Amino acid sequence: MAEVRVAVLGGSGWMGKVHTMAYQTFPHFLGTSGGTARVVALVESNPNAAADLAFRAPGAKILNAWQDAVNDPDIDLIDICLPDNLHYEVTKAALLAGKHVYCEKPLADTAAQARELADIAKARGLITRVGHAFPRNPVHDLAREIIAAGEIGQIKLFKACQHVDMYGDPLAPYMWRADANLAPTGIVGDTGTHVFSFMDFLVGRVSSLIADNFIVTHRRPVVTGLGYGEQAVLTGTETWSDVTNPDGSNILCKFVNGARGLIDFSRVATGRKFLQTYEVYGTKGSLSYTYDEVNRLRLYTNEDAVGRRGFREIDVGPENETFRAFLPLPNFALGYNESKIIEAAEVIRSITTGQALWPTFEAGHHICQIVDACMESSRLGAWVSIA
Ligand SMILES: NC(=O)c1ccc[n+]([C@@H]2O[C@H](COP(=O)([O-])OP(=O)(O)OC[C@H]3O[C@@H](n4cnc5c(N)ncnc54)[C@H](O)[C@@H]3O)[C@@H](O)[C@H]2O)c1
Repeated sequence: MAEVRVAVLGGSGWMGKVHTMAYQTFPHFLGTSGGTARVVALVESNPNAAADLAFRAPGAKILNAWQDAVNDPDIDLIDICLPDNLHYEVTKAALLAGKHVYCEKPLADTAAQARELADIAKARGLITRVGHAFPRNPVHDLAREIIAAGEIGQIKLFKACQHVDMYGDPLAPYMWRADANLAPTGIVGDTGTHVFSFMDFLVGRVSSLIADNFIVTHRRPVVTGLGYGEQAVLTGTETWSDVTNPDGSNILCKFVNGARGLIDFSRVATGRKFLQTYEVYGTKGSLSYTYDEVNRLRLYTNEDAVGRRGFREIDVGPENETFRAFLPLPNFALGYNESKIIEAAEVIRSITTGQALWPTFEAGHHICQIVDACMESSRLGAWVSIA
């Protein structure tokens, strides 16, 4: 199958736009040897938004109901960019209809659901992928190579955070992300899963954790038509909705390989537009990353002479094949959208070659186990083990 026929569900949302662009763009940079994709259907339930969709994927069907895409025999891949609460139901229906599935994070509301999805896909030999795009920036392949080569020794401590301020302002309007019916685990499934994906990619499985989830602002005005973090101008006539899922969490964890983790994330860090960092401390050295310098790692190694030791800046550049496909010079920066382009290319290559690539639903399941453990631990106020 050289050309994969794709339906993008939630076509006019943020991720729907990015995924649709990514399928059309990846051959330009990454070539066609791993196959190509054609977006043949865009599904959008919001009629106002759907009216604008036709130009995004010329010739694609514009559908209102996701079931029509899932049951269409002329579609190979179902790409789910819908709110979190729909991921499980739609993914399951798509797998049972024999489709490959690329689902945005979090894969499901619970680890049990994620396990079921991974098992169905395995039994049917279908390709799966979860949209944990951030680690697909080539800079993180470099981090993984450095760790795998033993350059920083045995990992002892992993520290990471991800903060935004979309809900820093108490008057920022209510959205589906704050509704436990639509996003049952709140920031833990939304942002925590990004940090957990770095943990899975760089360190390994988590064996236990203790989490303190919290809500900062308990009610928000319902005001439509505003972007992330915009302040509502109140008229006094709006309704107010309860925030029913966590705004943030602080977590201690232990990894199966003996490393310890210290993780925090939130949507209420006033002033932090997007703070994403990790630090990996090993017995021979360490690595440090911040999204503010999106293609740069800092490496410290005990191999350097005493008196000359310090963090060395390494920019991933054209010596990396994936980076070179986009840019001929280092430090011109590959950002978020390029990570999604790389991800889309990998999804298509997996389908055409039959070789699944991380993060499949197996990784998605472990990440959902971590989410489950955070919710349970915070409720109990105790450490929780992960099988
Ligand atoms: N990987 C990442 O970095 C990343 C970033 C943002 C969001 N996400 C994930 O992507 C998913 C979508 O998030 P978003 O920010 O794009 O949301 P969004 O609100 O911008 O888009 C969701 C779209 O789905 C549509 N929709 C809702 N219910 C529908 C239904 N039943 N049928 C068809 N269309 C429907 C909405 O009208 C909207 O256009 C979420 O699961 C989120 O967690 C991932």
